Amino acid sequence: MALDLLRRGGDALHRQGQVWEREKADEVFGQALAHWQDHGFGWRSAHDKATGDWLGFVGLNYIESDTQGLGTDEVEIGWWIIRAGWGRGYASEGAAAIRDEAFERIGVDRIIARLQPPNMASGQVAEKIGMSFHCDTIGRVGEVLHIYALDRSEWSRQPQSDE
Ligand SMILES: CC(C)(COP(=O)(O)OP(=O)(O)OC[C@H]1O[C@@H](n2cnc3c(N)ncnc32)[C@H](O)[C@@H]1OP(=O)(O)O)[C@@H](O)C(=O)NCCC(=O)NCCS
Repeated sequence: MALDLLRRGGDALHRQGQVWEREKADEVFGQALAHWQDHGFGWRSAHDKATGDWLGFVGLNYIESDTQGLGTDEVEIGWWIIRAGWGRGYASEGAAAIRDEAFERIGVDRIIARLQPPNMASGQVAEKIGMSFHCDTIGRVGEVLHIYALDRSEWSRQPQSDE
């Protein structure tokens, strides 16, 4: 349901040059559910604390073998906020929470983010949660991706209340 809302909301995916049909949204939902069942972590819905309104997703997942130079043992952090919620700090707040979940509950040694170069806002979100530019690489359809990373030692040196 939430993925269908995101699909119909459209703005976020338009910015990435993708418009999902219902079948694609169902397929991605199935993959997200399977990731939770297999690994005990995954994508989470983000909601407005005051109203309960659905705002989008933040999440963690193992990456697929579709990015040059990155193994499938890498855990990726990601964020998608509906257009009506942009500019209010939701992505930064959600990303910080999921970053802490990665190191505290799941116990990973490093998180990465794969960002498309025109997406300046996501670069800002990554830097706000302590990530830094790691390298450029090539994604599934030949696109250039900026890889941002944060490892456990860097995270443990950060102030714990940055949101
Ligand atoms: C990227 C996205 C998540 C940002 O969500 P958001 O809730 O508006 O982000 P925040 O309000 O937390 O703002 C993050 C920072 O980006 C900055 N920012 C916003 N738009 C920007 C732009 N076009 N260029 C540069 N910086 C920008 C904000 O000023 C803020 O920094 P600040 O707090 O220092 O002022 C949202 O635009 C989105 O969902 N985009 C489409 C999906 C996507 O690209 N997901 C990323 C996949 S990993």
